[in-house]
Amino acid sequence: MQISELPQHIGETVTLTAWLQDKSGKGKIQFLKLRDGSGFVQGTVFKGDVSEEVFEAAKRLSQEQSLSVTGEVRADERAPSGVEISVRDLKALTEVVGDYPITPKEHGVDFLLDHRHLHLRHRRPWAIMRVRDCVQRAIVDFYHSEGFVRFDAPFFTPNAAEGTTELFEIDMFGEEKAYLSQTGQLHAEAGALAFGRVYTFGPTFRAEKSKTRRHLLEFWMVEPEVAPSNHEQNMALQERFVSFLVRRALEECAAELELLGRDVSRLAGAAEGNYPRVTYTDALDIIRGHIEAGDLPENVQADVQPVEWGDDFGAPHETILGYHFDRPVIVERYPASFKAFYMQPDPADPRLALCDDMIAPDGYGEIIGGSERIHDYDLLRERIEGEGLPLEAFEWYLDLRRYGSVPHAGFGMGLERVIAWICGIDHIREAIPFPRMLTRMAP
Ligand code: 4AD
Ligand code: MG
Repeated sequence: MQISELPQHIGETVTLTAWLQDKSGKGKIQFLKLRDGSGFVQGTVFKGDVSEEVFEAAKRLSQEQSLSVTGEVRADERAPSGVEISVRDLKALTEVVGDYPITPKEHGVDFLLDHRHLHLRHRRPWAIMRVRDCVQRAIVDFYHSEGFVRFDAPFFTPNAAEGTTELFEIDMFGEEKAYLSQTGQLHAEAGALAFGRVYTFGPTFRAEKSKTRRHLLEFWMVEPEVAPSNHEQNMALQERFVSFLVRRALEECAAELELLGRDVSRLAGAAEGNYPRVTYTDALDIIRGHIEAGDLPENVQADVQPVEWGDDFGAPHETILGYHFDRPVIVERYPASFKAFYMQPDPADPRLALCDDMIAPDGYGEIIGGSERIHDYDLLRERIEGEGLPLEAFEWYLDLRRYGSVPHAGFGMGLERVIAWICGIDHIREAIPFPRMLTRMAP
């Protein structure tokens, strides 16, 4: 029996294996806050209901001690789970060695990250990880329902795809160069030409020196790739996908989101769809309008950097844009100059790329980056050379344009950014079990 199943067993006597989170009470009564991974419940021990031995055992329990507990399940309207347990019997399963370090008092961020292996047992990380699990299942369900094949890209790759500065280089026995993958995209393109619709879903690695609340060194990315496809179809897929994930989280994780204090009304637009689409040029006007009027969200500094046509948006600019809309906004057709080499030029204006970013509301920034890919052999070759990338390493990728090339498109969605946004948490480090950042490699 698990705690999550208790509401279906009101009036019955059950036995659980649980851990003690906290304990209070005096004299003839002890209140035990219990958890078992599936949920949380209070156990009440009345002196008159149990043997002297059991009552003493309850008093001796310490934080995070494991125990077997037997009792009657009672309805309790005040309890978040709707039930509590009237304890009849209990037994500690093992002794705790030393004091459990995370006490019910407040702890600093670094202390909790140092004890992440234990902190995961507490309510807040527990709720976030369950939302993560729900969204991960929803991702698989969505692509399955749309006829995609899950296609695993390698983690060691010979190619830099998203700029060479963010690569972790691996020593491959002093022979060829290899890197930890920044993106599964190039391999997903091979998959799309082989299977039509594929998606990769796994960890990706970026040696980003920036310490922001949106960046991890290791993060999970979902990358669908479709052949044939184009820029318009790519944006439509993104909207169907993200709105599906938000709907699923709202349906299945209401209790977790409530525990996190998330104002779910702020996700209503995202769940609905109809995401606004603006061009880079229009987005720039919106951002500049806010800066000139001094109409800025609380978390954007008044001396925010101005932006000119041709500049990439910084985090504060994305925040301004995100707050302008009540749901994610798709910004399309950025200048090609600061975008990746593989993006198809806009036929109406070759200074632009047929690409888009999806920006989440409420300051969560870019959650998706995608584009139509260059399908022409000569143009792609020219771009690879123009970027100063080693042509030999890209010969296999050029083969995809030599043999039966078609217009195709895809995108990447950062899982942790989406989890942080759905859960309404401040920093992306809370959205992954063991975050890897500039200053954090352990536990
Ligand atoms: O925009 P990016 O760099 O796009 C690509 O890698 C493409 N190859 C994807 C594709 O078309 N298949 O990254 C995609 C997303 C970003 O929008 C963001 O959500 C997330 O990955 N992301 C990060 N998340 C956490 N920490 C980081 N350091 C991230 N860098 C990117
Ligand atoms: Mg991007």
